[in-house]
Amino acid sequence: MDKDEQTLKDKVAVVTGASSGIGEATARALSERGASVVLAARNTEKLEALERELSAAGGRVVTVETDVSDAASVEAMIEKATTAFGGVDVLVNNAGLGLSGRVAEVRAEDLRYVFEVNVIGALNCIQAVLPQMRSGGRIINVSSVIAKRSIPKVGGYCATKSALDAISDALRVEIAEKGITVTSVYPGTTRTAFRDNSRRTKDEKRGWRPKGVTPDVVAGKIARAAEKGGRNVYITIPDHAYIAAVTMLPSLADRILRRWARD
Ligand SMILES: NC(=O)c1ccc[n+]([C@@H]2O[C@H](COP(=O)([O-])OP(=O)(O)OC[C@H]3O[C@@H](n4cnc5c(N)ncnc54)[C@H](OP(=O)(O)O)[C@@H]3O)[C@@H](O)[C@H]2O)c1
Repeated sequence: MDKDEQTLKDKVAVVTGASSGIGEATARALSERGASVVLAARNTEKLEALERELSAAGGRVVTVETDVSDAASVEAMIEKATTAFGGVDVLVNNAGLGLSGRVAEVRAEDLRYVFEVNVIGALNCIQAVLPQMRSGGRIINVSSVIAKRSIPKVGGYCATKSALDAISDALRVEIAEKGITVTSVYPGTTRTAFRDNSRRTKDEKRGWRPKGVTPDVVAGKIARAAEKGGRNVYITIPDHAYIAAVTMLPSLADRILRRWARD
């Protein structure tokens, strides 16, 4: 174990969006590593089913119905977490949704809503948890590879993840002296209900996507970040290569993406 690494055995973790996909898998991974876990999302039926599963396996888990876009709901959730477990050591800002549509067509009201969840939602959780988070605390924000280079037909969604990255970068420096780390996680395609839950501008043809990884793979990386912190976490070598290539060769990326965006 290196000097910044910590066991999760006596830690308390809040996972937003724990009712599905990456959040559900992350809650499971954190619980398996011994953390007490607060499951936060709107769908309490799914959260309670997960709570039963994790409790049966010996985990300490509570469900808190939460809408991350509502600051009062988030404050109440952090209060319940503190009452149940005495504090919060790890915050995984995972709740989010997608939005498809070309920039010329996307509805401002849809984009505003997705910003409310993906960006203000994370901000609400950060602001609610920070006053009581102690040294050794971890804030983990789930971004996306396409935050690093926006792609056609989902530019609005990419904008929300780039905005989240901007918040992560500023926050990391602002709270470094408190001994709290801020990690950005960059999943590529992950096999969850994400596409079905995305808002759509019209019935766009769904473009090609890589097959992607299971949410367990992403969850394993998030749980590792909860143990050892770190700045940026990438999931696969192709994800990392994509980011390196589009950063170093932006015009070539434009040309390739123009083809992809044609239909
Ligand atoms: N899947 C991918 O390919 C992929 C790639 C890169 C990044 N990501 C990011 O990974 C994160 C998780 O996505 P996923 O793939 O696991 O999708 P998912 O299966 O659709 O899960 C999304 C989760 O967010 C929660 N959520 C949505 N709105 C919420 C709100 N207002 N308040 C609280 N919770 C809310 C949902 O719970 P309720 O509906 O119960 O509230 C659900 O648990 C998202 O931030 C997404 O942008 C996904």
